[in-house]
Amino acid sequence: MTDTTSSQPAKAWSGRFSEPVSELVKRYTASVFFDQRMARQDIRGSLAHAKMLARQGIIADQDLADIERGMGIILNEIERGEFAWNLDDEDVHLNIEKRLTALVGDAGKRLHTGRSRNDQVATDIRLWLRDAIDQILVLIGDFQKNLLDVAEANAATPMPGFTHLQVAQPVTFGHHLMAYFEMSRRDAERFADCRKRVNRLPLGAAALAGTSYPIDREFVARELGFDEVCYNSLDAVSDRDFAIEFCAASALLMTHLSRFSEELILWMSPRVGFIDLADRFCTGSSIMPQKKNPDVPELVRGKTGRVNGSLISLLTLMKGQPLAYNKDNQEDKEPLFDTADTVIDTLRIYADMITGIRVKADAMRDALKQGYATATDLADYLVKNGLPFRDAHEAVALAVRAAEAKGCDLPQFSLDELRAAMAHVPGAAERVKDDVFGVLTVEGSLDSRKHIGGTAPEQVRAAIARGRSTLG
Ligand code: ARG
Repeated sequence: MTDTTSSQPAKAWSGRFSEPVSELVKRYTASVFFDQRMARQDIRGSLAHAKMLARQGIIADQDLADIERGMGIILNEIERGEFAWNLDDEDVHLNIEKRLTALVGDAGKRLHTGRSRNDQVATDIRLWLRDAIDQILVLIGDFQKNLLDVAEANAATPMPGFTHLQVAQPVTFGHHLMAYFEMSRRDAERFADCRKRVNRLPLGAAALAGTSYPIDREFVARELGFDEVCYNSLDAVSDRDFAIEFCAASALLMTHLSRFSEELILWMSPRVGFIDLADRFCTGSSIMPQKKNPDVPELVRGKTGRVNGSLISLLTLMKGQPLAYNKDNQEDKEPLFDTADTVIDTLRIYADMITGIRVKADAMRDALKQGYATATDLADYLVKNGLPFRDAHEAVALAVRAAEAKGCDLPQFSLDELRAAMAHVPGAAERVKDDVFGVLTVEGSLDSRKHIGGTAPEQVRAAIARGRSTLG
């Protein structure tokens, strides 16, 4: 705000009122503090509207020329940070219109013909959000590209896969990372799909019922790059479902990155030690000189909360509103802007952060020796040699128990020890042959999962190639 006082207390509707609003009410109802972010979109929308008015003979060509000239000056002032935003003029729309009138006179006063701030603001938000979505889609692409690079370098790097945070079966680190690639692919689909519903033109709905001027909404839609117009004037000015959808897509994206963050934090803990993050994403402690804390992933996890909160804010904002426009809707902007800012910053930082992951392959392999990760492979081996699965499951459970008692891993048993451990399950021991040790190795386990979506390195590489082909 560069100017909060005005010599002209008159408001857009001033003739109707006998006393001005109090300073407190003025502040309470104003949105110019935050909606000035939509100034460029507001000007774009106004220029398209003015062009249409002139084409339809509703204003003169000279008016259009004056409006275009005035808007050029205003845009310049805004770009240079010299525009005098004024609290008395409530919002971005009235601020710009007032300045326009000061610059070009009556033509400025004609701009609002056949239009209301209700359809104006709905148009501005959609233009703003469309730009934000396009930026987010590019950033998801950057994130994905870097993720594919790290996954490719680790397509055959074994690590324990977990369920219940207990060692389950071997997977490759590349395969694990590709799970996040798949999530991000769906995130991108959701944003692209949401964009279709954002990209419809409300302008022309006026306050709520349309306008009596012979307007051409399709022309304005084309001018502004909208795919179509909103087909009901009441709906056009009042619903914000497109913004809610955007927040829902954002909440899911952040949820995915929050899970990824939780893993990075866990993997970086010295008790796990699977990875290290580049120093530029970590901070030290003011008291403990040895500390290197994964602040960035922790903050991503934390910021997911505010994005989820914004989704709930907008849903709650909408749920009690009767048709058509209500001032409640002014409250849509801050959660929306904050959500877009958070998602954009998070994606930027993440794309960079994952290139700085240092993989500690030895620690990953060591961890695989501790949890009987190839026990399922042993059961599958018995089944392939004719034992029913439930019996095989029991035989291997006995073998694991024996290994635990001996303090060793399954591949460390001799053939006789392995057979003895299974002796209580009829038919098990005689099905164990020398070749069993092949399936008990980590590489044997990985290579055997060679169907689409499996963790065999050849399949991980195929998934990465598929992923690359989806990137532009
Ligand atoms: N600043 C308002 C908003 O964000 C613009 C629309 C105001 N319309 C009205 N009838 N008061 O929603």
